[in-house]
Amino acid sequence: NGKINIAIDGPAGAGKSTIARMVASMLSYVYVDTGAMYRAATWYLQNLGIGPEEVDKVLHSVQNLGIELMPGEDGQKVLVDGQDVTAEIRSLTVSSQVSRYAQIEGLRNWLVSLQRQMALRKGVVMDGRDIGTTVLPDAEVKVFMTATVEERARRRFKEMQDQQGITLEMIARDIAERDRLDQEREVSPLRQAEDAILLDTTHLTPREVAERIVSFSQSYG
Ligand code: C5P
Repeated sequence: NGKINIAIDGPAGAGKSTIARMVASMLSYVYVDTGAMYRAATWYLQNLGIGPEEVDKVLHSVQNLGIELMPGEDGQKVLVDGQDVTAEIRSLTVSSQVSRYAQIEGLRNWLVSLQRQMALRKGVVMDGRDIGTTVLPDAEVKVFMTATVEERARRRFKEMQDQQGITLEMIARDIAERDRLDQEREVSPLRQAEDAILLDTTHLTPREVAERIVSFSQSYG
């Protein structure tokens, strides 16, 4: 069908989801937000009172869990066993713990296999931390997106401003801590794939970044 897969990785707040969504819409591809899947699992486990250190309980409770990503009116809807948790998974309660649950190997294996299934027929723009290195090592286009930590905190703050009592400082701390945990974990840590294109988005608009990625994907093949 002439379609390819596009993998977008990078640290928190680099603009991956905004860009991935734009690229998907420009190419009529499907956008897959893998961070939302880790967040959905985290939300579910937190509600059950199961902590990230309780690995056996975590793996047991997600065995029959259904996590779905669906196209919604403004972006993507996230369902956990049919319940819409799109807003809930963006809370600081989830954000501040998600990287701890994301270290659990069995949890990652499960989500990675779901993600690979979603990309089987190609035409997918997938963003996350380990897409180019682990989930889709054969993706035709791989991008590693960065921006300064100040710029990333500022962008996330704009997105989360409607949440009561959240300050720029809290967000900067959350981002720095997640980056540390994501880079230092043993199983598929955050890092640039050897064949990924590095894109520093600090001084670019989302449209400029999206257009560059679309042109990479058009010059492919
Ligand atoms: O992309 P987002 O910032 O929503 O991801 C939330 C967290 O989920 C990340 O900080 C990371 O710990 C985890 N994650 C991951 N692998 C992915 C996507 C997200 O470990 N592919």
